[in-house]
Amino acid sequence: DGRANELAQTCNRPYQEIPERYIRPEVGTDEIISGHDINSAIPVIDLAKLLDPQSSQEECAKLGSACQHWGFFQLINHGVPDEVINDVREDLTEFFRLPLETKQAYAKPTDKFEGYGQHFVVSERQKLDWGDLLHLRLRPTESRDMSFWPAHPPSFRNSMERYSSETAKLARCLFEFLAMDMGVDPESLLEIFRGQPQTMRANYYPPCRQADKVLGLSPHCDATSLTLLLQVNDVQGLQIRKDGKWLAVNALDGAFIINIGDMLEVLSNGRYRSIEHRAMVNPEKERISAAVFHQACRKATIGPLPELVMNNGGKPLYKSMGYEDFMKRFFSAKLDGRANVEGL
Ligand code: SIN
Ligand code: FE2
Repeated sequence: DGRANELAQTCNRPYQEIPERYIRPEVGTDEIISGHDINSAIPVIDLAKLLDPQSSQEECAKLGSACQHWGFFQLINHGVPDEVINDVREDLTEFFRLPLETKQAYAKPTDKFEGYGQHFVVSERQKLDWGDLLHLRLRPTESRDMSFWPAHPPSFRNSMERYSSETAKLARCLFEFLAMDMGVDPESLLEIFRGQPQTMRANYYPPCRQADKVLGLSPHCDATSLTLLLQVNDVQGLQIRKDGKWLAVNALDGAFIINIGDMLEVLSNGRYRSIEHRAMVNPEKERISAAVFHQACRKATIGPLPELVMNNGGKPLYKSMGYEDFMKRFFSAKLDGRANVEGL
């Protein structure tokens, strides 16, 4: 049961070959667009402007447009204290650098989704990602299984709790602005996310000497509603699918990269887009990121919001189903681009 980090230590020796299951021939030939250029970069949304009555309307239109045309944006002035972000950064970094035996105490059982382990492995023949993960349920607090929450470093649990409560608050605020942009009653959206169920997947991508032959995380769309991604260290690697090409995201320091997941695409009746993305690895440096996902409450029905169906001449563009069925569908399928949401 080798983990990517341990594997990397072997494979990064000179002349050592990378195991076949990690080789992704497509990576070397894909056309990649630099997202550094202001014209190609994903939109930047300013929460301070959203909250200021003087600029709120204009910024909210910008937010809506980002969700429609990009499915991705960066959020600055988001109000989550630097200290909260820095603590979670430090503690995640420290956790992933612990010896394998220590991390194995939190190993993900095969029938559970929580714990420390590898990215989505659904078949014996599937290609593997060059990364390790730590997956936790964060909210509601009673859903937490503390046996998966690292006790090392000692500040981890406290840092994660504060991070969870700040990001949940932020997500709620964004849902209200999204409701405004869609022209729906904010309560009808907030009701679906009542209790703010939230999970986190932290990703650790060890360096790979042959970085152009592997993927840190395979192309996928997020199943849930809104994802708040923090690039934990200053190593870039996120790429999003844009007009058939891959666009490298230049994460701004301290900003959140936020994206629309399948669930929100469905709720918005297709107004917002859930966009395929993947993570590359760096030849020399480790890369760490942490994605916080916002799920729906268990009893919720995931389907186009009635107000939006009405606006579309009564035509829902997606099927409706219970939250649990919606998630089951996602986790039983192999990661394959937009296949999940397109099959709805
Ligand atoms: C993710 O899609 O959850 C991770 C992307 C990244 O590591 O930047
Ligand atoms: Fe993702």
